[in-house]
Amino acid sequence: MNPQARIQELAQRLHHLNTQYYQHDVSEVPDQEFDQLLAELNALEKAHPEFAQPNSPTQRVGGTVTKQFAQATHRYPMLSLGNTYSEDDLREFDERVQKGLEGAPYGYVCEQKFDGVAMSLAYENGDLHQGVTRGDGTRGDVVTANVRTIRTLPLHLHGPDAPSEVEVRGEVFMPNSVFDDLNQEREQNGEALLANPRNAASGALKLQDSAAVAARRLRFYAYSVLTPGRHFGSHSESLEAAAAWGLPVSPTWRRCANLEEVLAYIHEWEQKRFTLPVNTDGIVIKVDNLRQQDQLGLTAKSPRWAIAYKYPTAAARTRLREIIYNVGRTGAVTPVALLDPVPLAGTTVKRASVHNANQIAMLDLRLGDMVFVEKGGEIIPKITGVDLAERPTEAVPVRFPTECPACATPLVRPEGEAHFRCPNERGCPPQLKARLEHYVSRKALNIDGLGAETVGRFFDLGLVKTPADLYDLAQRRPDLEGLERLGTKSIDNLLAGIEKSKTVAFERVLFGLGIRYVGEGGAQRLAQHYRTLAVIMAAPTAELAAVPDVGGITADSVALWSQQPENQEEVRRLAEAGVALEASGEPPLAVSDRLAGLTFVLSGVFENYSREQLQTLITSNGGKITGSISKKLSYLVAGDNMGPAKREKAVGFKVPIISENELLALLPVAE
Ligand code: IVH
Repeated sequence: MNPQARIQELAQRLHHLNTQYYQHDVSEVPDQEFDQLLAELNALEKAHPEFAQPNSPTQRVGGTVTKQFAQATHRYPMLSLGNTYSEDDLREFDERVQKGLEGAPYGYVCEQKFDGVAMSLAYENGDLHQGVTRGDGTRGDVVTANVRTIRTLPLHLHGPDAPSEVEVRGEVFMPNSVFDDLNQEREQNGEALLANPRNAASGALKLQDSAAVAARRLRFYAYSVLTPGRHFGSHSESLEAAAAWGLPVSPTWRRCANLEEVLAYIHEWEQKRFTLPVNTDGIVIKVDNLRQQDQLGLTAKSPRWAIAYKYPTAAARTRLREIIYNVGRTGAVTPVALLDPVPLAGTTVKRASVHNANQIAMLDLRLGDMVFVEKGGEIIPKITGVDLAERPTEAVPVRFPTECPACATPLVRPEGEAHFRCPNERGCPPQLKARLEHYVSRKALNIDGLGAETVGRFFDLGLVKTPADLYDLAQRRPDLEGLERLGTKSIDNLLAGIEKSKTVAFERVLFGLGIRYVGEGGAQRLAQHYRTLAVIMAAPTAELAAVPDVGGITADSVALWSQQPENQEEVRRLAEAGVALEASGEPPLAVSDRLAGLTFVLSGVFENYSREQLQTLITSNGGKITGSISKKLSYLVAGDNMGPAKREKAVGFKVPIISENELLALLPVAE
């Protein structure tokens, strides 16, 4: 079969499988087969880019690096909604509508007000053509590559009656479960936490690397459909049509014949909304008939035919019984408040987060206090205050421990950090255990048959203390065989899993080592850049810090880790066991010392390579990247849209300004 036809055939098949999987929850083929088809398509598209379709299923996995976001003007401005907080306001709204429609009968549609990021999607000839953020309402960022990573979004509309041109508006969001997962991971890695799912979604959409966006597992709900000329009589019909074209429409919307039905919907969802995958902060009420919407018209900022009802923030009052202290993988000690169970926002709350010692002091928390807890955009409720009127006389001030609750080592608080930490990295049981759990976890070594629970049990039994001990387990089979609830088959499985982990790629091993601040992305960058752990461990801090997207804090942490004899010994044992401590395959770029002694600043947007690729080209040929222009700088590499200040400064210091192509000309020719 010729490649063009095969590309088409594969694309069609994969589109179909994607739809089945993501919209109907049906796996028609095993994952492996899907991956094979995708790999085949990818290879064909690489070999014959002229036949690749822009909406190809390969675009879903991300990997396209956008250099910057172009701006686009919305065909119709993206308006906001008037807010109300009371039923009286709603009655007034209803009266205004009634008056505006001069006594004609009308009805409403009620929808959830999703707490995410507004997005406009243009479909042309059925294909997803462009995604633009709301921006200032008039112009927004074109984030098409990022939007394409949203797996529940059809890249092509289904059905014979999908219009040739349509703009779909809706909300991009991060499901709460994904947000929880990501934050848990970030906390474990000592990375800054994402504030709430909305910020997380908005941050993800701004990422330049769509592969990183794909990892944020965003979703979309459509809430408005705009077709040039008119297709629909009512908003509700347009929602039904959008769903029929394969667009994700939350099934929560409802037609309401009058204000009483609207109020019933609002009450019904006040608690039920917490069962949804997405945060919501109210209800949107829209006049259903589109002709009537036109008749009511707009004010400067918002339509007269719609309004948002906001629920009050869910808050409750309950008694603070105790504060316990958890020790994480990096030794951070986090207080958790134990409360008398109280219903709040759809769940029974028994625990609340208190971020750190400062917050305990700020709230002046005392055991036995009646405290207010709130669930805002965040998932875990937090204590927002104390009901001082109800403070029992015997209430005991909370004293943050001075010693580790697990190993009694005196706690330290490094300057500039909010958390107290247990410095006993080598001996503090919860830290050791969490590091083992991290090592075997899915994103690290992903050891089959050895989950967090089993490895924790092995740790408690003294069978393993560090990851390298796992590789000695095969010789300790008799010890394992005596254990309860661990059959021969399970032992076979977990030993096979441990053996197989020796083939896991270096970057994941590096991540698995649990070096503070080295998350998945950082591990990937370091592995790509240095290719072997030995070189990373020998690298000077300043050089580590110059690796794209690594930065000073991570560099310090890697250097510190590398100096410690215990870590060196651990690495030696892992190497002896046969764990991959080097990247496999050919290095991606020619490596030379051609640029040794030269320093570069990259500025602006480049045509042929991403900034990151250029940085790698420079450093892998011995050059250094710095951030600021000084008279010692060798070259300023200027892309498009470089700021005039940089240019002036470089001219002032007589630093040569070169283009991307001139930089490439400095490099050795790749063979
Ligand atoms: S309709 C003119 N429907 O709320 C009407 N908006 O203040 C425009 N939002 O930024 C929007 N859920 O992103 C509509 N079901 C829903 C919505 C919704 C959330 C957001 C929207 C916009 C803001 C309006």
